[in-house]
Amino acid sequence: FSIEGFQTDLISWFENEQRILPWRENKDPYRVWVSEIMLQQTKVDTVIPYYNRFMELFPTTKHLAEAEEERVLKAWEGLGYYSRARNLQAAVREVVERYGGTVPNDPEKIANLKGVGPYTTGAISSIAYDLPEPAVDGNVMRVLSRVFFITEDIAKQKTRKLFEEIVRTIISKDNPSAFNQGLMELGALICTPKSPSCLLCPVQEHCKAFAEGVEDELPIKSKK
Ligand code: ADE
Repeated sequence: FSIEGFQTDLISWFENEQRILPWRENKDPYRVWVSEIMLQQTKVDTVIPYYNRFMELFPTTKHLAEAEEERVLKAWEGLGYYSRARNLQAAVREVVERYGGTVPNDPEKIANLKGVGPYTTGAISSIAYDLPEPAVDGNVMRVLSRVFFITEDIAKQKTRKLFEEIVRTIISKDNPSAFNQGLMELGALICTPKSPSCLLCPVQEHCKAFAEGVEDELPIKSKK
Protein backbone atom coordinates (compact mmCIF):
# COMPACT_ATOMS: atom_id res chain seq x y z
CA PHE A 1 0.00 0.00 0.00
CA SER A 2 1.44 3.35 -1.06
CA ILE A 3 0.34 6.07 1.34
CA GLU A 4 1.55 8.77 -1.03
CA GLY A 5 -0.18 7.18 -4.03
CA PHE A 6 -3.44 6.94 -2.09
CA GLN A 7 -3.18 10.58 -0.92
CA THR A 8 -2.45 11.86 -4.42
CA ASP A 9 -5.24 9.87 -6.09
CA LEU A 10 -7.82 10.83 -3.43
CA ILE A 11 -6.94 14.53 -3.31
CA SER A 12 -6.74 14.95 -7.11
CA TRP A 13 -10.14 13.32 -7.48
CA PHE A 14 -11.63 15.52 -4.72
CA GLU A 15 -10.22 18.70 -6.24
CA ASN A 16 -11.68 17.83 -9.67
CA GLU A 17 -14.99 16.18 -8.75
CA GLN A 18 -16.22 17.67 -5.48
CA ARG A 19 -19.77 18.96 -5.35
CA ILE A 20 -20.26 22.70 -5.10
CA LEU A 21 -21.74 23.10 -1.61
CA PRO A 22 -22.39 26.34 0.29
CA TRP A 23 -20.11 25.41 3.21
CA ARG A 24 -17.25 24.93 0.75
CA GLU A 25 -17.37 28.56 -0.43
CA ASN A 26 -14.75 29.48 2.17
CA LYS A 27 -13.08 27.94 5.20
CA ASP A 28 -14.44 30.17 7.95
CA PRO A 29 -14.33 27.77 10.94
CA TYR A 30 -17.73 28.96 12.16
CA ARG A 31 -19.29 28.14 8.77
CA VAL A 32 -17.61 24.72 8.77
CA TRP A 33 -18.84 24.12 12.31
CA VAL A 34 -22.48 24.95 11.54
CA SER A 35 -22.41 22.74 8.44
CA GLU A 36 -20.99 19.76 10.30
CA ILE A 37 -23.58 20.05 13.09
CA MET A 38 -26.44 20.25 10.57
CA LEU A 39 -25.03 17.32 8.54
CA GLN A 40 -24.75 15.01 11.56
CA GLN A 41 -28.28 13.64 11.38
CA THR A 42 -29.55 15.26 8.18
CA LYS A 43 -28.91 14.65 4.46
CA VAL A 44 -26.97 17.14 2.34
CA ASP A 45 -29.94 18.04 0.09
CA THR A 46 -32.12 18.84 3.10
CA VAL A 47 -29.39 20.82 4.85
CA ILE A 48 -28.51 23.18 1.96
CA PRO A 49 -31.51 25.58 2.17
CA TYR A 50 -31.43 25.57 6.00
CA TYR A 51 -27.73 26.28 5.97
CA ASN A 52 -28.07 29.20 3.56
CA ARG A 53 -30.89 30.76 5.61
CA PHE A 54 -29.05 30.21 8.88
CA MET A 55 -25.94 31.92 7.54
CA GLU A 56 -27.98 34.90 6.35
CA LEU A 57 -29.62 35.23 9.77
CA PHE A 58 -26.48 34.52 11.83
CA PRO A 59 -23.43 35.23 9.62
CA THR A 60 -20.85 35.27 12.43
CA THR A 61 -20.30 33.82 15.89
CA LYS A 62 -21.23 37.21 17.35
CA HIS A 63 -24.56 37.28 15.52
CA LEU A 64 -25.44 33.80 16.77
CA ALA A 65 -24.22 34.52 20.31
CA GLU A 66 -26.42 37.60 20.57
CA ALA A 67 -29.55 36.10 18.98
CA GLU A 68 -32.60 35.13 20.98
CA GLU A 69 -32.70 31.35 21.39
CA GLU A 70 -36.24 31.37 20.04
CA ARG A 71 -35.07 32.81 16.70
CA VAL A 72 -32.34 30.17 16.48
CA LEU A 73 -34.79 27.34 17.13
CA LYS A 74 -37.17 28.86 14.59
CA ALA A 75 -34.40 28.79 11.96
CA TRP A 76 -33.74 25.15 12.88
CA GLU A 77 -37.42 24.17 12.57
CA GLY A 78 -37.72 21.12 10.31
CA LEU A 79 -34.15 19.91 10.84
CA GLY A 80 -35.06 18.19 14.10
CA TYR A 81 -32.77 17.22 16.97
CA TYR A 82 -33.14 20.69 18.46
CA SER A 83 -30.53 20.04 21.15
CA ARG A 84 -28.01 20.46 18.30
CA ALA A 85 -29.15 24.07 17.88
CA ARG A 86 -29.20 24.79 21.63
CA ASN A 87 -25.74 23.28 22.13
CA LEU A 88 -24.39 25.13 19.11
CA GLN A 89 -25.57 28.48 20.41
CA ALA A 90 -24.25 27.74 23.92
CA ALA A 91 -20.86 26.77 22.48
CA VAL A 92 -20.74 29.79 20.18
CA ARG A 93 -21.47 32.04 23.19
CA GLU A 94 -18.49 30.41 24.89
CA VAL A 95 -16.30 31.07 21.84
CA VAL A 96 -17.29 34.74 21.95
CA GLU A 97 -16.67 35.05 25.70
CA ARG A 98 -13.47 33.00 25.97
CA TYR A 99 -11.86 33.46 22.55
CA GLY A 100 -13.20 36.81 21.31
CA GLY A 101 -15.44 35.17 18.70
CA THR A 102 -12.80 33.14 16.83
CA VAL A 103 -12.97 29.35 16.99
CA PRO A 104 -9.64 28.34 18.55
CA ASN A 105 -6.99 26.83 16.28
CA ASP A 106 -6.49 23.92 18.70
CA PRO A 107 -8.28 20.54 18.60
CA GLU A 108 -8.24 20.15 22.40
CA LYS A 109 -10.02 23.48 22.88
CA ILE A 110 -12.47 22.72 20.07
CA ALA A 111 -13.26 19.31 21.59
CA ASN A 112 -14.26 20.96 24.88
CA LEU A 113 -17.07 22.98 23.26
CA LYS A 114 -20.60 21.83 24.03
CA GLY A 115 -22.04 19.45 21.45
CA VAL A 116 -18.72 19.04 19.63
CA GLY A 117 -17.62 15.40 19.56
CA PRO A 118 -14.51 13.78 18.07
CA TYR A 119 -15.85 13.81 14.50
CA THR A 120 -16.78 17.50 14.52
CA THR A 121 -13.51 18.40 16.24
CA GLY A 122 -11.57 16.68 13.47
CA ALA A 123 -13.72 18.19 10.73
CA ILE A 124 -13.28 21.78 11.98
CA SER A 125 -9.56 21.28 12.73
CA SER A 126 -8.75 19.78 9.35
CA ILE A 127 -11.13 21.66 7.02
CA ALA A 128 -10.81 25.14 8.54
CA TYR A 129 -7.27 25.03 10.00
CA ASP A 130 -5.58 22.31 7.91
CA LEU A 131 -4.50 20.40 11.01
CA PRO A 132 -3.80 16.69 10.34
CA GLU A 133 -6.62 15.44 12.59
CA PRO A 134 -8.95 12.51 11.81
CA ALA A 135 -12.65 13.20 11.10
CA VAL A 136 -14.19 9.75 11.23
CA ASP A 137 -17.93 9.26 10.77
CA GLY A 138 -19.88 6.31 9.39
CA ASN A 139 -19.07 7.21 5.78
CA VAL A 140 -15.35 7.37 6.45
CA MET A 141 -15.46 4.04 8.33
CA ARG A 142 -17.21 2.46 5.34
CA VAL A 143 -14.57 3.72 2.90
CA LEU A 144 -11.61 2.69 5.05
CA SER A 145 -13.08 -0.69 6.04
CA ARG A 146 -13.12 -1.48 2.31
CA VAL A 147 -9.73 -0.01 1.42
CA PHE A 148 -8.00 -1.94 4.24
CA PHE A 149 -10.40 -4.94 4.50
CA ILE A 150 -11.17 -4.18 8.15
CA THR A 151 -13.73 -6.57 9.64
CA GLU A 152 -14.16 -4.90 13.04
CA ASP A 153 -17.78 -4.12 13.94
CA ILE A 154 -18.32 -0.39 13.17
CA ALA A 155 -21.28 -0.31 15.59
CA LYS A 156 -18.86 -0.78 18.48
CA GLN A 157 -17.73 2.33 20.32
CA LYS A 158 -14.01 1.55 20.27
CA THR A 159 -13.86 0.78 16.53
CA ARG A 160 -13.87 4.49 15.66
CA LYS A 161 -10.58 4.85 17.53
CA LEU A 162 -8.99 2.20 15.31
CA PHE A 163 -10.04 4.19 12.22
CA GLU A 164 -8.78 7.43 13.79
CA GLU A 165 -5.35 5.84 14.24
CA ILE A 166 -5.36 4.73 10.61
CA VAL A 167 -6.25 8.25 9.46
CA ARG A 168 -3.46 9.71 11.63
CA THR A 169 -1.07 7.42 9.75
CA ILE A 170 -2.29 8.02 6.19
CA ILE A 171 -3.59 11.63 6.22
CA SER A 172 -1.78 14.07 3.91
CA LYS A 173 0.23 16.46 6.08
CA ASP A 174 0.28 18.86 3.09
CA ASN A 175 -3.49 18.99 2.64
CA PRO A 176 -5.46 17.55 5.55
CA SER A 177 -8.59 19.45 4.46
CA ALA A 178 -8.77 17.92 0.97
CA PHE A 179 -7.78 14.50 2.33
CA ASN A 180 -10.58 14.32 4.92
CA GLN A 181 -13.16 15.90 2.64
CA GLY A 182 -12.04 13.50 -0.10
CA LEU A 183 -12.83 10.53 2.16
CA MET A 184 -16.27 12.03 2.96
CA GLU A 185 -16.99 12.80 -0.69
CA LEU A 186 -15.85 9.35 -1.81
CA GLY A 187 -18.26 7.81 0.72
CA ALA A 188 -21.09 10.02 -0.53
CA LEU A 189 -20.56 9.67 -4.31
CA ILE A 190 -18.65 6.45 -5.07
CA CYS A 191 -18.10 4.19 -2.05
CA THR A 192 -21.80 4.04 -1.21
CA PRO A 193 -23.44 1.56 1.18
CA LYS A 194 -25.13 -0.38 -1.64
CA SER A 195 -23.65 -1.04 -5.10
CA PRO A 196 -20.50 1.07 -4.75
CA SER A 197 -19.17 2.43 -8.08
CA CYS A 198 -15.80 0.69 -7.86
CA LEU A 199 -15.20 0.98 -11.62
CA LEU A 200 -15.21 4.79 -11.26
CA CYS A 201 -13.29 4.88 -7.99
CA PRO A 202 -10.12 7.00 -7.92
CA VAL A 203 -8.53 4.72 -5.28
CA GLN A 204 -9.61 1.38 -6.78
CA GLU A 205 -5.99 0.30 -7.23
CA HIS A 206 -5.40 0.82 -3.48
CA CYS A 207 -8.52 -1.03 -2.33
CA LYS A 208 -8.15 -4.45 -0.70
CA ALA A 209 -11.90 -5.18 -0.70
CA PHE A 210 -12.10 -4.51 -4.45
CA ALA A 211 -9.09 -6.76 -5.10
CA GLU A 212 -10.82 -9.55 -3.17
CA GLY A 213 -14.28 -8.84 -4.61
CA VAL A 214 -15.82 -8.33 -1.16
CA GLU A 215 -16.78 -4.63 -1.21
CA ASP A 216 -20.46 -5.57 -0.74
CA GLU A 217 -19.66 -7.41 2.51
CA LEU A 218 -18.07 -4.41 4.20
CA PRO A 219 -18.31 -2.69 6.58
CA ILE A 220 -19.43 -5.19 9.22
CA LYS A 221 -22.14 -3.55 11.33
CA SER A 222 -24.03 -5.34 14.13
CA LYS A 223 -27.46 -4.14 15.31
CA LYS A 224 -26.33 -3.36 18.89
N1 ADE B 1 -21.14 15.11 5.48
C1 ADE B 1 -20.51 15.44 6.60
N2 ADE B 1 -19.67 16.46 6.42
C2 ADE B 1 -19.78 16.80 5.12
C3 ADE B 1 -19.19 17.78 4.32
N3 ADE B 1 -18.32 18.64 4.83
N4 ADE B 1 -19.53 17.83 3.03
C4 ADE B 1 -20.43 16.96 2.55
N5 ADE B 1 -21.03 16.02 3.22
C5 ADE B 1 -20.72 15.94 4.51
